[in-house]
Order: sequence, then C-alpha cells, then structure tokens
Amino acid sequence: MKKFRFFRSLPQDKNFSILLGNIQNIPKDPEDRIAYGRSKMDNLHPKLNCMWMGPFDPVIVVYHPDTIKSILKSSAPKSRGFARIYEMLLPWIGEGLIVSNGAVWQRSRRLLTPAFHFDILKPYIEIDNKAADKLLKKLEPFAKSGESLDIYPMLTLCTLEVILKCALSYDVDIQAKSHDPYAQSTRQLTEIFTRRTRTPWYWPTFIFKRTEVGKNFFQCCDFVHSMADEIIQKRKSELEKEEYKSKKRLLDFIDILLMARDEDGKAMTTQEIRSEVDTFMFAGHDTTSSGTMWFLYCLAKNPEYQFKIQEEVDAVLEGRDSDHIQWSDLSELPILALCLKEAMRLYPPVPFIQRELTEETIIDGHMIPKGTLVTVSIVHLHVNPTVWEDRDEFRPERFTWEEMKGRDSFSYVPFSAGPRNCIGQHFAVHEIKVLTSRILRKFTLELAPNRPPPVRFAQATLQSQNGMWLKFKLRTEFQN
Ligand code: HEM
Repeated sequence: MKKFRFFRSLPQDKNFSILLGNIQNIPKDPEDRIAYGRSKMDNLHPKLNCMWMGPFDPVIVVYHPDTIKSILKSSAPKSRGFARIYEMLLPWIGEGLIVSNGAVWQRSRRLLTPAFHFDILKPYIEIDNKAADKLLKKLEPFAKSGESLDIYPMLTLCTLEVILKCALSYDVDIQAKSHDPYAQSTRQLTEIFTRRTRTPWYWPTFIFKRTEVGKNFFQCCDFVHSMADEIIQKRKSELEKEEYKSKKRLLDFIDILLMARDEDGKAMTTQEIRSEVDTFMFAGHDTTSSGTMWFLYCLAKNPEYQFKIQEEVDAVLEGRDSDHIQWSDLSELPILALCLKEAMRLYPPVPFIQRELTEETIIDGHMIPKGTLVTVSIVHLHVNPTVWEDRDEFRPERFTWEEMKGRDSFSYVPFSAGPRNCIGQHFAVHEIKVLTSRILRKFTLELAPNRPPPVRFAQATLQSQNGMWLKFKLRTEFQN
C-alpha cells in the first residue's frame, strides 16, 4: 500500500482506473499514441511520469537527459518475465548480447567488441556497395516509368542481404530472389516478434505456442538455429585446415567469434556463437532499414538538403570510373552526416528501450524502488522542448560542433548510451550512408503524390503504418 501511494504521488495521468490503471487512456492509433506520450511530457512533467499498465503495474517513463542518464549509466538489466519484450526474444536469440545480463553479458561484450573494430568493418563497405548496386537496379524501372513505390520492403531485403553476408558470409541474392528459406525465416521471426509485442493475448507463452503464429515462430527458430549450427560447425572444421587459414578472404563475424578467447583462454561454444549470430540478425537489419527509410523521407521532404548532399557526393566521385563509395570517402561527406543525425533525432529507429531496476535508484529526486520497470523514451527525449529548440524542424545544423557545445551528451541517444550502447552503431551508420549516397548519386527523391504521408508506429523499431511511398527521378546525367 505504501508503494502504491508512492507511485501515485509521482507525476501521472490523473485519469486512473482501478481495474486498468492508465491502459484505457492510451490511444489505439499509433501516431496518436506517440502524441499521447508527448502531451504528458509537455503538460505533466518535462523529465518523467508514471504510467499504470494495470492497477498494480507502474512503469516510470523517462525522456530528459537528467533522468535518462540515471538509467543508462547504471547496470540496470534488461527486464525479463511476463510481457517483457526481451523475454519474447529468448526462444530466438537465446542469451545473446542484447538480452543477456550481468556476468554473461560482460563476457560476451568483451568477446564481441573486436568484431566491430574499424579494421573488420572497413571491407564491409564493399558489401554495402554491392547491395546498393542491386537496390539501384530495382529502383530504375520505377524512375523510368514515373511510378512511385513503398521503399520499405526493398530496403529490408537489402539490409538483410548485407547482414547475412557480414555475419555468416551467407551469400544469396535475396534482393532478386526473396524466397531464400534462411532469409525468409529471419524476416518472419522479426515480424512475428513485433506482432507479439503489441498483441496482449500472445504474451502468455503457453497460449502463444498453441496459435498458428506461435507455431510458425517456433518452427522458424528451429530452422534458423539448425542452419546457423551447420554453418558454424563447417567453419570450425575449415579453420583447422592450414590452406583455409592462409587463404585471403573477408573475415566475417563467425570467424571473429570462433577465434575469440576469454581471459581463461576459453572459446565460445557453438550455441553461444549461434545466439550472437541470431542477435546480429535481429538487431542488424530492421534497425538499419528503418533508419534508411526515415532518412530518405526527411530528404524527400527537405530537397534543399538533398541537393547539398548530391553536390557533396558528386564532388567525392568526380573523375572516378565507379560510383562505389570508399571507406575514406565517408569522412568527406559532412552534410550527409549532419542530415543523418537530424533524421535519427526526429525518427529514432529504436524508439524506446526498457530496464528493470535491481536496486533503489534516485531519479529526479525520487527514490524509485528496486524491481521497477523503466521505459527510456528516445522518441520523446529527441523532441523534449526543454532540450531542443524548434523541436519539429529538420535543421541538421544543430549537430555542428558549435551548436553541440554545451549540450548534454544524453540529449541525443539513437544508439542508446553508457555500457549497453549499440555495439553495431558504426556498422549501421556506414551502411546507411553508403545506401543513401548511392541512391542520391543517381536519383532525386520526392514524396509520392496522391499517397498519404507516413504514420509513425513505435514498435521494436520505428515503422510507418502505411508504408513509405516515394518517387525516384533519374538525375539528368543518368537519363540515357
Ligand atoms: C540504425 C541502426 C541501429 C540502431 C538505431 C540501433 C540502436 C540500438 C539501441 C537503442 C540499442 C540499445 C538496446 C537496449 O538497450 O535494449 C542497441 C543495442 C544493440 N545493438 Fe543496435 N542499433 C542499430 C543497428 C545495429 C546493428 C547493425 C547491429 C549489429 C550488427 C546492432 C547490434 C546491437 C547489439 C548486439 C546491441 C546490444 C548491445 C549490448 O547490450 O551490449 N545494432 N542498438
């Protein structure tokens, strides 16, 4: 009762039902749901509020650098248990980096960090370029006919192709042949997981398992696990052969993980490696396709920045035979970098994350008890009016060095921050930059006429409920 009274004393929506808490106040429409959170930030409290997900289930929502810092700097674990998003991932990605906690997480993070070293990431730029070649080829007929298209499904296949190649050297042309069973199962797992998180009657595992969707989920899990095991075993035996070791080839994540040793000299087991590979599959394609999709949208809406990026890309590629972006080119594209940051401010690909407090924690002067669930709302932090001036305006200059000076580093966290930040952020940013600059080199983008604007849908990644309809026009130099 004391605890209940404490949570009731925090800033919150006063429309409280003894049966449902605040659940009945949350709008059904996804864009309205984001607006509901925003109105609480604007009108109730600029740093946090308490949402009741039932009469006895308070969740603290934080969206200000001060309150977010208290959570992200701590070692508060990913929440587990009934109705928790991370729990729903377990059958697929096991104790992979994204869901593991404590000592297991610490060991994995140490072993995985070398896989994201710049020396390893450098050659992946060519994989990004090759995937972009195929994407551009698919876009060309639309540009020629003047027909608009929903770009999201194409982007998803493109980013999935990249991660399959970088993680496993799994080399299939899924952009042309979208029915590869491994790629398709990975897509299905992502889609079913997302659907389960927003469907309360799928939350109890014993019910979910009995539904058609649930059965499909577990079948896909079995399939991707057996495929990954097979690939890992095969690579393990190959790595023992001298001629394979001396062969010049691109190192993928499996190679790095197979060679990794902890401080006791112990290697990772096949199952541990498989969990990490599945984690990369989950974390590494829907996020990048969401990021690229919203970036293209921002550029279509703000043509002046699109043209500036085109000039920048043209200058970098001048006099070259190939349009492929090189590693060293990325630092020559500063306007592209600013625009991407601003797009990820307005449309963070991961809109929120959750933690569970393992110890009493002071948040904005309140002693929040152990066991409390906290939602870090990135999508609201990025438009918090106490932090961002003209918050809804696309103004990339706000990320120039002069304007960044004095801004709290926890004001902007598309990749989270602190010890559990995104390990794949450089991989992702390089990929998005290559895809976008290659698209802008060849096409100019416009919002599709006669199509409704996108409607944001904050799920595990930020989606658009009605797709992302864009028109691609061939630039004059490419019209013959
Ligand atoms: C635009 C693309 C991406 C965005 C916006 C993004 C964002 C994030 C965020 C917000 C987190 C924290 C999640 C949490 O606390 O629950 C995270 C964690 C993580 N991300 Fe990413 N991510 C992106 C791409 C990638 C890619 C490409 C990979 C792998 C190839 C990746 C792998 C991971 C992993 C393994 C973690 C867990 C790290 C840990 O807990 O130590 N991400 N990411």
